[in-house]
Amino acid sequence: MSVLGLTCTRCDAQYPLGPMFFGCPACADGPDRGTDDPGHGAVDLGRGAAALTVTYDYQAIAAELNVENWNRAGHGIWRFDALLPIRDPSVQISLGEGNTALVRPRKVCEATGLSNLFIKNETTNPTWAFKDRFHASSVSMAKSLGFSRITASTTGNHGASAAAYAAAAEMDSCIILCHPESSMLQRDMIALYGGHAFVLENRFKYLDTLIRDHGYYPSTTMTPMPTGTPYGIEGYKTIAFEIFVQLGGHVPDRMFCPIAAGDALFGPWKGFNEMRLLDLSDRNPVMHGVQPAGCNPYVQSFQQRRRDVIVHPDPSSIALSIRDDTGGPSALRAIYDSGGDATDVTEDEIIEAVRLLAHSGYLVEPSSAASVAGAIKAARAGRLAPDETVVCLVTGSGAKWPEVMAELSSREALVEPTWDEIKARAGLDG
Ligand SMILES: Cc1ncc(COP(=O)(O)O)c(C=O)c1O
Ligand SMILES: [Zn+2]
Repeated sequence: MSVLGLTCTRCDAQYPLGPMFFGCPACADGPDRGTDDPGHGAVDLGRGAAALTVTYDYQAIAAELNVENWNRAGHGIWRFDALLPIRDPSVQISLGEGNTALVRPRKVCEATGLSNLFIKNETTNPTWAFKDRFHASSVSMAKSLGFSRITASTTGNHGASAAAYAAAAEMDSCIILCHPESSMLQRDMIALYGGHAFVLENRFKYLDTLIRDHGYYPSTTMTPMPTGTPYGIEGYKTIAFEIFVQLGGHVPDRMFCPIAAGDALFGPWKGFNEMRLLDLSDRNPVMHGVQPAGCNPYVQSFQQRRRDVIVHPDPSSIALSIRDDTGGPSALRAIYDSGGDATDVTEDEIIEAVRLLAHSGYLVEPSSAASVAGAIKAARAGRLAPDETVVCLVTGSGAKWPEVMAELSSREALVEPTWDEIKARAGLDG
């Protein structure tokens, strides 16, 4: 068996795989968060909360691993199951996630002067976000542990994806706790997939009750909160495995990731690190976490060389999906380990990146474009060498945010225009 179990990210205590949703018991010396907790900002890592992570016997995996299998198309993330927590095909839930393109967006390459700048285009996943990799792994684990109820908290993408995978896994019930600014479309998606969407100012309020009293499996990230599942991040690792294959058996020099809880960076980093432990590569990419300037807890924590992530008061940004006021320490550790940084970008820089990507043919939401904005900023500051291979993680589609896209679209379509109006709008002569 190549999966060893769960390990505490702080004290290294080991536990068997199982329904462990409240972090490391050995580290839990503080009070429970309880349902009256004022919210996400109350996360206090000093109180003892520590996330768990899945660990493997890399020697055993190296002995059996056939990287040729990684080139096999189909079956979503499960072609990488030698490095995933579930080996039983009967509970490997998939909607055909992954296999996303690694492509050079023309306008962004021009803006950075880099010919090897790629986006890993996660917008083509089944629910149009990288979250599908998370839930393929996490909901499969729910199924294999015998759960029939799923819950998740979300700014939109995470919950829509959780509901889709709950449907795929034939779960009896799916409750999604949504941020008030999640898009109407995403709430409709949740309902159409068969889930129940609830909108709450404090979207973590009922999480503990649902888990402890009603048998719900939390398909929610375990960082920064101690409450959630350690199994979803395993799905994110497959982003690194795919990039490795797509670059012909190489790792990129750098990777830019848009981060909120931080798993969008920690997950791929864990994948790269595991390939290093398996001797498939000899280094990790330099990892850059990108946040909006109006909500940059990682940037402030990085600048202060902290090991934990501060809480940002009054976060603001158009990029709702990465507007969390704090994040988990695992991403910070990955940044330090790789010699990377946490960097922030202005609203204008995010919107410029949305437009450059759209003019290259890719419609992405502002949070996704933040990674590209971070790379453009670094290139303009002369921090990227022209021959470097840079990958920007583009996490979610603009198509799920119609209200935001309407705000960003510079031109409303003219209805029943005259020929003169068409000429004027399109800049035609004569
Ligand atoms: C589109 C998008 N990008 C990035 C992120 C950030 O991911 P994480 O919270 O794992 O850092 C999210 C999370 O909701 C997201 O929806
Ligand atoms: Zn511990």
